[in-house]
Amino acid sequence: MDRTGSILVIDDEEIMREILETLLTREGYSVRVVADAAQGLELARTAPFDAAIVDMMMPGMDGMTALDELKKIDDDLPVVMITAFASVESAINAMKRGAFHYITKPFKNDEVLAVLRNALERRRLVAENRALRQNLQAHANHFGEIIGRSQRMRQVFDLIIQAAPSRTTILINGESGTGKELVARALHQNSTRADRAFVTVNSGNLPPDLLESTLFGHVKGAFTGAIYPKKGLFEVADKGTIFFDEIGNIPLETQAKLLRVIQEREFMRLGGVETIKVDVRIVAATNVELRRMVEEGKFREDLFYRLHVITVQLPPLRERREDIPLLAQHFLEKYGEENSKPRLELTPEALDLLIDHDWDGNVRELENVIERAVVLSSGQRIDADLVPEHVRRSRRFQMPQFVVPPEGISYRDAEIAFQRGLIESALEQAGGVQKRAAELLQIKPTTLNEMIKRHDIRPRRKRTGQGSPDPDEEAAEVPIGD
Ligand SMILES: Nc1ncnc2c1ncn2[C@@H]1O[C@H](COP(=O)(O)OP(=O)(O)OP(=O)(O)O)[C@@H](O)[C@H]1O
Ligand SMILES: [Mg+2]
Repeated sequence: MDRTGSILVIDDEEIMREILETLLTREGYSVRVVADAAQGLELARTAPFDAAIVDMMMPGMDGMTALDELKKIDDDLPVVMITAFASVESAINAMKRGAFHYITKPFKNDEVLAVLRNALERRRLVAENRALRQNLQAHANHFGEIIGRSQRMRQVFDLIIQAAPSRTTILINGESGTGKELVARALHQNSTRADRAFVTVNSGNLPPDLLESTLFGHVKGAFTGAIYPKKGLFEVADKGTIFFDEIGNIPLETQAKLLRVIQEREFMRLGGVETIKVDVRIVAATNVELRRMVEEGKFREDLFYRLHVITVQLPPLRERREDIPLLAQHFLEKYGEENSKPRLELTPEALDLLIDHDWDGNVRELENVIERAVVLSSGQRIDADLVPEHVRRSRRFQMPQFVVPPEGISYRDAEIAFQRGLIESALEQAGGVQKRAAELLQIKPTTLNEMIKRHDIRPRRKRTGQGSPDPDEEAAEVPIGD
């Protein structure tokens, strides 16, 4: 059995320290002995230990307090208490407070060694379990969960299979909700790193200094509040994969440091002097055009090229409509099961609506729509009435059919009426927000504002869903003249 491990011994009696040091060193452990708790804590904060042996009765800080403090530094650290036979009671108390075990004085060498072996074994199991749990979560989104039979998705699958085994950096590009995170996990799952950690960095929501200490870790005293040393995510991801979600949000100064890690696969903890080497696979995702950010000076060009070795381009859902029935079915089963409503089906009308919709929110939006319909459904069939209003309404725009009446019509009046109808519809769609309405019509807000004035359009309250006419009819119904 492997006896390696580092043990911290805290005991005020010199003879005890000598006995333990000799015994444990002979067994092959690396041992640090100190005479009081304060020194022991100091050591524990700078160097990680695999187990600690702590005397209960010590002048100054007693064993019980030392136990509490050690647990604050490393919650998983197994701590073995040493106590005089007379005070076994307090040792039992210590176990209630998280000690691994206790040994009474005088102790037998074998007993100490056996307890220590168990302690180290448990430490190993806890660590292993943690890694397993991480990977279990990853497994839930295995390759098989990425649905798609379209040509575009098949190309994505092929690329994943080809690129997964290497350590090459991969950039995943796609609109929000297209499945970037699923692809990142699939890359990890299909690599030799699958049984190691998959660590996600949410690049966007941390201020730069916090992001850096999260990524690279810090040494004790690196900044105010850095009371303990801390591992960064790069170290946690060693031999595994680190996934930068929304990499475009990383501030420029951190980008420089990131570039260095990608190039050298090494870095320093904040405030540290020691270079730490890691073996990590870097996967990054973005829903913005990084190239444009480079042109605008918001993203480092050198980092862009480093990331751009292999790019997985995820198509928006509206460009692979043939996958919509498949995805809808998948989510129907998923949420049907979750809500104890088996064998649900979509009516052809409902499915048509889904296929026609433009899905700006992509698969995530579709998933939400299906989940909602499943929850609201009462029978086996999900019909068009369970498809939310906005999905029904945004059916692709159809030009109204114009029929010139036999008596003829003023071209100018018809044109003005058509413009007016478009503006009113856009304003309604945008809930009266002119800026958004201008976006919908792809014109400048100032232009829209001018037109609103010219046509003398008054703000109108948003119509509620109930009783509103069919969207197609609405588009065809262009009032001519007033
Ligand atoms: N091809 C797919 N098959 C099945 N489910 C998918 C697919 N694509 C996306 N999803 C589901 O859609 C949701 C969004 O996917 P994901 O989080 O991977 O998207 P994203 O591109 O990372 O989005 P964002 O840019 O908003 O972070 C998830 O619930 C995911 O399971
Ligand atoms: Mg995402």
